[in-house]
Amino acid sequence: MPGTATKVIVTGGAGYIGSHTVVELFHAGYEPIIVDNFVNAEKSSIKGIETILGAKVKLYEGDSGNKEFMERVIAQERGISGIIHFAAYKAVGESVNQPLKYYRNNLDSLLTLMELMKEHHIPHIVFSSSCTVYGQPDTLPVTEKSPKKPAESPYGNTKQICEEILEDTVNSGVPIKVIALRYFNPIGAHPSAEIGELPLGVPNNLVPFVTQTAAGIREKLTVFGDDYDTHDGTCLRDYIHVVDLAKAHVSALQYLGSKSEENSYDVFNIGTGQGSTVLDVINTFEEVNNIKLNYSIGARRAGDVEKVYADVSHANVELRWKTELSLADALKDAWKWQLSLKKN
Ligand code: UFG
Repeated sequence: MPGTATKVIVTGGAGYIGSHTVVELFHAGYEPIIVDNFVNAEKSSIKGIETILGAKVKLYEGDSGNKEFMERVIAQERGISGIIHFAAYKAVGESVNQPLKYYRNNLDSLLTLMELMKEHHIPHIVFSSSCTVYGQPDTLPVTEKSPKKPAESPYGNTKQICEEILEDTVNSGVPIKVIALRYFNPIGAHPSAEIGELPLGVPNNLVPFVTQTAAGIREKLTVFGDDYDTHDGTCLRDYIHVVDLAKAHVSALQYLGSKSEENSYDVFNIGTGQGSTVLDVINTFEEVNNIKLNYSIGARRAGDVEKVYADVSHANVELRWKTELSLADALKDAWKWQLSLKKN
């Protein structure tokens, strides 16, 4: 029903997690309004979203850190009730080489949005944080109360600083309700294969590297180290299907809408609660897709944590959200997505 749905700005809504969230918001009856500058996203993702939904979505092309531009978006779209803020740079290695680019972009956009929320009385924001704030936790699974560790990279530091900006703003009494979602490792793609991850250049992350190797785009996958203290010696992570992760944002908005206080700050881990090693991922990928992957064991990658997985009980109870999809589902969908790219 045009004009009656709750309007939500989704910065970075053309990106990997953002595009899946736009789909889930729409399904849940919200009106997502995408803001994206397409520096790390493709226009094709908008087409993919619209194909899945069978409807047009609203798109504003520009930088969410540009206040004048965002003022225009807010003026045009009266009655914005919330913001989901995905737009940020996210390459750990690049952030070490170009820290100023990361601090400028990732902090500016949040500061701009917070000022606008205050000035225009936009009450809710859901922020994309990361399990990177925990570093290598002392005990597993990691809960929201586990201590934050000094950031390993400028990227990780921007996530920590952004969480502090949000919390300090709430503590100052500004009438906004905030949720920071600490994502574990998002993988997979929409089961329709209309949207998915589009890494720029050589992927840093495991699953895009796996699918590109299986597709023959990369010759071989290197497993970074097999002498860690895990069941097979390779690093362990909590891999979550991107559609489950997207749905957590809908639950977060619903939770904010149901809260009676007008000023709050909450943090939730968003993972599956299960740890899988690199070899678990490779073996599952081979099994569910009936493919042999060319890989070999190499040296450890600098800065990798040995193992981390989430305690998700806080999100299960408070957000009434839980994952529905498995590692096998995610790896099937990732492969289907990779194959769809080959065709285009
Ligand atoms: N890995 C390989 N070979 C590869 C790529 C990755 O063996 O070619 C291994 C890594 O060593 C690691 C695991 O696969 O053990 C997962 O690596 P990713 O790069 O996919 O993910 P990370 O857990 O290292 O990084 C993710 C996010 C970051 C975030 C970090 C926080 O991508 O944004 O979690 O821990 F900062």
